[in-house]
Amino acid sequence: MIEAQHDQEKQLKLFEIDADQSSLPLSNGSSAFCDPAFASNKTLPLHRWVPWIAGFSSDFVRDALTRYLNGKGTVLDPFSGVGTTLIEAFLLGHNVIGFEVNPYPALACRTMLHAYRIATETLRYEILRFQEFYNEKILSGFKPKSIVPKGFKTRAEFYSPQVLHKVLIFQDFIDTIKSSDVQDLFKLAFASTMVRYSNYSYEPSLGRRITTLSEQLSLQSEYTSTALLAGLRRKPSRPETP
Ligand SMILES: C[S@@+](CC[C@H](N)C(=O)[O-])C[C@H]1O[C@@H](n2cnc3c(N)ncnc32)[C@H](O)[C@@H]1O
Repeated sequence: MIEAQHDQEKQLKLFEIDADQSSLPLSNGSSAFCDPAFASNKTLPLHRWVPWIAGFSSDFVRDALTRYLNGKGTVLDPFSGVGTTLIEAFLLGHNVIGFEVNPYPALACRTMLHAYRIATETLRYEILRFQEFYNEKILSGFKPKSIVPKGFKTRAEFYSPQVLHKVLIFQDFIDTIKSSDVQDLFKLAFASTMVRYSNYSYEPSLGRRITTLSEQLSLQSEYTSTALLAGLRRKPSRPETP
């Protein structure tokens, strides 16, 4: 279960759809169902962190919530996915509860909903700590404690040995983070970028990409240090479903 609360406790009545009103533009000039291609999420704060093909359009959700809910209350999404509905509802001041069966969108939803609880200073501190941790482990030829999850099998190696070593160091670092919110944020940063520095790519489904040695070397240097986290801020080029 995924939950995020403001302070008030109140259950809203179910809205009644007025057929005459539902196609009218909202007072802000937008209209319900205004983004049927669900494209806008790719550029919006929070939503762009996780390009996810099965998510609702945030514009659509916001339109529906603004149009049909009066006052503040609790919004339940029993199939929350990456949380577009819950995030928009929370930003509009509602408490939210969601359920999601797939662990990856569940992580994404929980992380985005709880990100506001992380103080900027805490995040900055953990990023600096990661840089130190990473540089020290790389220079010392450290053998990571983290291992590739059992059952994670792909036709060809998912990562080159050099990239895998760095990924496992990153996983080791995540285990040292005390705050579960910050841990989730680092996990999501990894999950939403992990294919880009692998031997695979989305074209349009997950397929093998032949990488040359020079590409591998540039991938390694590109994704050292905070580049993993920078992935959260980068505008994705196409929908991805890890
Ligand atoms: C279309 S997505 C939901 C989009 C989401 N409501 C939003 O606002 O972006 C449907 C989600 O339902 C999840 N799902 C399917 N069956 C489920 C179940 N029995 N319990 C919880 N989640 C389920 C799927 O894993 C998928 O992520």
